Amino acid sequence: MISLKIAPRHLQVLPLFASAALGFQVALVQAAQSPTYYDDALAVLSRNCAECHRPDAPNLGGITAPFSVLSYEEAKAWAPVIALRLEDGSMPPWGAHRQHQGSFKNERYISDEDKRLLLDWVAAGAAAGNPSQRPTDKELAPAALAPEPALAADGSSWWMGVPHARVAFPEPIEVCEQTRDWQPTIRMEVAAGDLSEPRWVKATEIRPGSSVMHHSVSNYLGVAVPGRGPQVYPQGWGFLLPADPLVTINMHYAKQSGPGTAIADDTTGGFLFYQPGDVIDHVVQNTIPMNRDIAIPPGDPNYMATHEHRIEQDILLLALAPHAHYRGKAVKLELELPQGPERETLLWVPDYDFNWQFHYEYKEPRFVPAGAKLHVTWWFDNSAANPANPDPTAEVRYGPRSVDEMMNARYYFTSAEPQGIVVGEEIPEELLARATQREHYLREQLAGWETAGLSERCQ
Ligand code: HEC
Repeated sequence: MISLKIAPRHLQVLPLFASAALGFQVALVQAAQSPTYYDDALAVLSRNCAECHRPDAPNLGGITAPFSVLSYEEAKAWAPVIALRLEDGSMPPWGAHRQHQGSFKNERYISDEDKRLLLDWVAAGAAAGNPSQRPTDKELAPAALAPEPALAADGSSWWMGVPHARVAFPEPIEVCEQTRDWQPTIRMEVAAGDLSEPRWVKATEIRPGSSVMHHSVSNYLGVAVPGRGPQVYPQGWGFLLPADPLVTINMHYAKQSGPGTAIADDTTGGFLFYQPGDVIDHVVQNTIPMNRDIAIPPGDPNYMATHEHRIEQDILLLALAPHAHYRGKAVKLELELPQGPERETLLWVPDYDFNWQFHYEYKEPRFVPAGAKLHVTWWFDNSAANPANPDPTAEVRYGPRSVDEMMNARYYFTSAEPQGIVVGEEIPEELLARATQREHYLREQLAGWETAGLSERCQ
């Protein structure tokens, strides 16, 4: 059958000279016009999805995506779900409204044309097309990070380079058979290196210790979500880690429950330090504007909570990281300059998803003058119509457990003035005091939390 050897694209011309005796002629013309995997969809999938959906995807910050879009067989098998997820907007994962396109690093927007093409491809039966010119996986999805991680002496691998200090759980965390969703806040201990002196940190990385870690958020190690690599600051930017820090990490474990699904997790974290003589111009800090005074009535589908936060000094704004739990529905962060009164929307997340803790990191740090105000607005859905809602009959207040709520608007910043701090020389009193004070505050805050949830034991 000669036609089988002809690429579908070229079938378009076939009917021009083929005889009418070819009964399947009409069907062939239709097939020719619909997109195929090798000729059309593969390029779109690799551009938008292969960062995570590929066979050798580095396990960056947690769960790896469930299939590879670089394999026709897998993409075809998942085609109906691909269409669903494109239509409901949950893939590719990104929270910021399209009005912010161009503002943040690692943003993920799929263009209307790309989306249309994939939906058409699925609707037309997810045909294969012509594999003859297929580029290699590497050409299709070049790794965003260094191709090879650095290997530490103990065999652990790190994308940011071999850490100067490592922290780990006292013992691996057992995630029980019956567990589906669990979010303990766990204390980490020093596993290598020395944290007994204050350190200037250049980079941090969280290494997931199992595939059931969906994401995690740590006070000093930053966040890990799928697709996000280590936090590496530009030269001259970094944060001050106080001596003997209490490093905690809030783990989000998500898995199927049932016999044989128990797993031991040994997630670890690493710090890279600046070296004596390096100069720190920008001391990265973060603060968490929040309103603890919330009481979300049972069943309320659209509870709104606001908070106003004044910025006291000239700053460079680096990143925004809003955080709520299962009832979080949408969040808006607005900036009011001192001359006011208009507000500029810094971030609008119309469809907040607790499963994806994004850091909205500016491509270019943004200057904000002293006296500006940050207006935080969160909306919550405590109704039964919210599929993530653990209990629509509960009145929900601010609190650490995932069944409580939060309405945080953490942001990362540095003072606008370059500091010229030389690493190894005395640390400015004020900075040290602030880091220590913060550490004490964290210790107080976390005292009751460290073991929160850990009492859930596997019987
Ligand atoms: C940043 C990484 C990332 C990108 C980019 C990404 N995905 Fe995903 N995807 C995931 C992860 C992780 C999961 C696992 C499900 C989860 O935990 O939410 C997933 C799950 C899925 C699923 C299965 C959902 C289900 O209901 O079981 C589909 C289908 C999917 N992605 C399609 C896509 C498509 C299509 C694109 C590109 C247009 C894409 N994804 C881009 C990370 C990603």
